[in-house]
Amino acid sequence: MGQAGVNTVALAIFSWDRIQPTEDRWNFGWLDRIIEKLGKAGIATDLASATATAPLWLYESHPEVLPVDRYGHIVNAGSRQSWQPTSPVFKEYALRLCRRLAEHYKDNPYVTAWHMGNEYGWNNRYDYSDNALAAFRTWCEAKYGTIDALNEAWGTAFWSQHVNSFDEVLLPRHMGGDAMVNPPQQLDYERFGNDMLLDFYKAERDAIEQICPGKPFTTNFMVSTDQCVMDYAKWAGEVDFVSNDHYFHEGESHLDELACSDALMDSLALGKPWYVMEHSTSAVQWKPLNARKRAGELMRDSLAHVAMGADAICFFQWRQSKSGAEAFHSAMLPHAGADSKVFRGVCELGKALKTLSDAGLQGTELERAGTAILFSSESEWATRSETLPSMKLNHWHDVRDWYRGFLDAGLRADVVPLAYDWTDYKTIVLPTVLSLSDEDVRRIADFAKTGGTVIVGYATGLVDEYFHIGLGGYPGAGNGLLRDMLGIRSEEFNILGEEAEGEPSEISLSNGLTTRLWQNDVNVTGEHAQVLATYAGEEADEWELDGMAAVTRNPYGAGEAYFVGCDLDVADLTKLIRTYLAAPAQSQQSQANTDVLHTVRKSADAAFDFYLPRGKKEVELQGVEGEPVVLFQTERGEENGSYTVRRNGVLVVRR
Ligand code: GLA
Repeated sequence: MGQAGVNTVALAIFSWDRIQPTEDRWNFGWLDRIIEKLGKAGIATDLASATATAPLWLYESHPEVLPVDRYGHIVNAGSRQSWQPTSPVFKEYALRLCRRLAEHYKDNPYVTAWHMGNEYGWNNRYDYSDNALAAFRTWCEAKYGTIDALNEAWGTAFWSQHVNSFDEVLLPRHMGGDAMVNPPQQLDYERFGNDMLLDFYKAERDAIEQICPGKPFTTNFMVSTDQCVMDYAKWAGEVDFVSNDHYFHEGESHLDELACSDALMDSLALGKPWYVMEHSTSAVQWKPLNARKRAGELMRDSLAHVAMGADAICFFQWRQSKSGAEAFHSAMLPHAGADSKVFRGVCELGKALKTLSDAGLQGTELERAGTAILFSSESEWATRSETLPSMKLNHWHDVRDWYRGFLDAGLRADVVPLAYDWTDYKTIVLPTVLSLSDEDVRRIADFAKTGGTVIVGYATGLVDEYFHIGLGGYPGAGNGLLRDMLGIRSEEFNILGEEAEGEPSEISLSNGLTTRLWQNDVNVTGEHAQVLATYAGEEADEWELDGMAAVTRNPYGAGEAYFVGCDLDVADLTKLIRTYLAAPAQSQQSQANTDVLHTVRKSADAAFDFYLPRGKKEVELQGVEGEPVVLFQTERGEENGSYTVRRNGVLVVRR
């Protein structure tokens, strides 16, 4: 670790059985020795609460803590997080462990932070046990107050679901072949699952803090590729620093996806430093096919996280294990040993991070963009409902497509939770933000009224926070205010897909773009609304959409609102951004060279520019100002400020 420049270790995350081998035996000796050995070598410990997975003896003596799946099957022990978030018995054992750890390590100078649980929600997010049922009833009562309010919110008149008292409220357990759970009930169950785990985290944190005050707490979030598991906008304020586990997405969107996930993390960090708690030096072992990282990707990905605002770079795992479920998962020290490409890469990274730190990177913050793409966990959950016009809706992927579209158009966007304050941005984008409350719509309309540019996607604002459809035409959220702002009204959705055999699989737009999934039949209602593109051609005609508006712009107060009435791929979103959004975006941070991800981290004293090629091609940079700090797979040109950054290379300069 010394050789690699490691200075922090997250320790004992799955070691409850070592710390408490049986109910009444405690064993801290091994952990004391490791913490001391690390500490004396200048390596700090981010010590786990160790509650992520309980020892087998606990499951033997208290099988009632095991979660239950939606079919009523008990979820067995042997993996991770095999416990009910609402089990009072499990909580008692977990808090006892937290207190023992806090007492034992409260004065240990080498323990510098507490690492709570691990990826809360990964394996026990959905628990259908009787404990969960009782807790859900209490949660609903606290939320709705009266059973009438719940009946109204859940629309229980439909399918004879009227609830007479909170004792009749049900969890969305398996209902036979019919998977169509009442959407507001499902959405509340998602919120409930989030809240139960957050409460559990808080109880663990408070138990430790009472005994060991003053040390920072974190827990590793899961934001990457296909998942944003919990409503982290609610969690971020409950930790002292956020941290994330990011696993790469193979293929051409590798770096873009990383940057998009990190853009959300940087917003969740609330202006404080944040950690990449886990990523991989090379392949993982949990996909059907596990691609390794190519030469340089270990360094490139790590520095890309730094470029996007991360202040610490950690990996799962230090030593690649010899046995167990994760033996084929890459590590910092691989099976091959220290004489290996991976370990040499790790050592090289250690040096680069030290160089950046010595050059004053610590304390700098990522420069914000002018555009915020708004993300909402609630909409992410809502789009998973099996009751929608299309089951291909995916809010998180649409966020990523827009993010990539901006990069391809030479602009960087931020990703910001809908619930946060985004009023300082110039432009906001709402991609498939399916559910918007009246209050959300009011905030959005006020933003446009006072000069902002709002871009509303095709399946945004169809329902409110209770999953009630806004009436009078789509998108109906906000009692018509969203429609007013957009100056449009739509009556039907046109859904394409392989289900519709013999039907067109795509429809063209008058400006050359193509839609493949979802089209709104947009009618223009605003006096000054402009039609920017219509559906056009044979396929459009076949679906009675020919000549109908598809993309519109409406002046609203001092600002304007765009409606993108159909789905578009990244290339077409890019064209749209280039054509229509270049003007409002002019004052935003722009990157002339779209082959490169360019970010800036700043403090009062210095600015660091990061340049990373987005694709496989090497890129030539000219006129780069500042002193080079890191030149990874990068050559300096003859002319001042010119560089060649090769595939997976990174250039960092300091101004
Ligand atoms: C998760 C866990 C780790 C490990 C990695 C593997 O993020 O927290 O313990 O299983 O995945 O990628």
